[in-house]
Amino acid sequence: MSFPTHRPRRLRQSPAVRRLARENHLVPSQLVLPAFVREGIDEPRPITSMPGQRQHTLDSLRRAAADAAEAGIGGIMLFGVPAVRDAVGSGADDPDGILNVATAAVAEEVGDALVVQTDLCLDEFTDHGHCGVLAGDGSVDNDATLERYAAMGVAQARAGAQLLGLSGMMDGQVEAVREALDDAGFSETLILAYSAKYAGAFYGPFREAVDSQLSGDRRTYQMDPANAREGVREALLDVEEGADVVMVKPALPYLDVLADVRAAVDVPVWAYQVSGEYSMIEAAAQNGWIDRRAAITESLLGIRRAGADAILTYWAVEAAGWLREAL
Ligand code: PBG
Repeated sequence: MSFPTHRPRRLRQSPAVRRLARENHLVPSQLVLPAFVREGIDEPRPITSMPGQRQHTLDSLRRAAADAAEAGIGGIMLFGVPAVRDAVGSGADDPDGILNVATAAVAEEVGDALVVQTDLCLDEFTDHGHCGVLAGDGSVDNDATLERYAAMGVAQARAGAQLLGLSGMMDGQVEAVREALDDAGFSETLILAYSAKYAGAFYGPFREAVDSQLSGDRRTYQMDPANAREGVREALLDVEEGADVVMVKPALPYLDVLADVRAAVDVPVWAYQVSGEYSMIEAAAQNGWIDRRAAITESLLGIRRAGADAILTYWAVEAAGWLREAL
């Protein structure tokens, strides 16, 4: 009888050996919590399609940020839900707009314990729900939108955001915002470019979370799910324009793009585990069809393994708790 020459199972024989042989690790500082704050409410409102998530009041957002800091995660990404919207998204760069007010409150609450981050996009603030302003024919006007993003970026930096998440997928947005920040004296404000952001079905629950006004879709600016090379091209352009960090979004359906982008750039690469990814696991777990904690942990590890240096995830604080337990 001949014995196998190679025995990879040797490295799996016990918890101690497996621990020593583990290639990838998750630590709390690699997790960023996305959080929603809604103008004009007295109590936090549950988001039904995202069990466990809520639209915060300013007060409950402060508490959530303090808890996130306590949990040792890396940052918090803020999304605003304004009470009033208009065609150009005036609330976005108004210092009294909900997102800017919330940013100042969170920055004051957490100081340097978390990197305070803001979504830089118009969709929450426009009455038509698109990520940019519209031209006369109803199309999204790229260059007119850049001017709005530049103003929004400066307003967010002024409010205390340390990192701006440019999620609108307009051409030239990184360059436009970087230039405006530098001109206004915010040369230290970081830019996270949502470089490869795909137009897909997995943002469904987020639309409820921000009370989205969109009818139609974002296919003229977000990417076609069939394209991988184009994701790398977008990331390279963003790095050239001055992005400090690039991102791939959603995460699990685009792990190939994440790995390709990781190989192509030298800056940090992040991934966004989006609302639909969250809700699918929560729904399956509620039905008793999967082990919730194991599925969440495996999904986060998969995103790390594919090349993400950090992950935006609605489970950030809870997962950080598990990671500390496991140490
Ligand atoms: C745009 C933005 C969206 C998300 C993050 N930033 C919505 C969209 O592009 O339609 C989605 C995040 C998620 O689904 O969790 N401001």
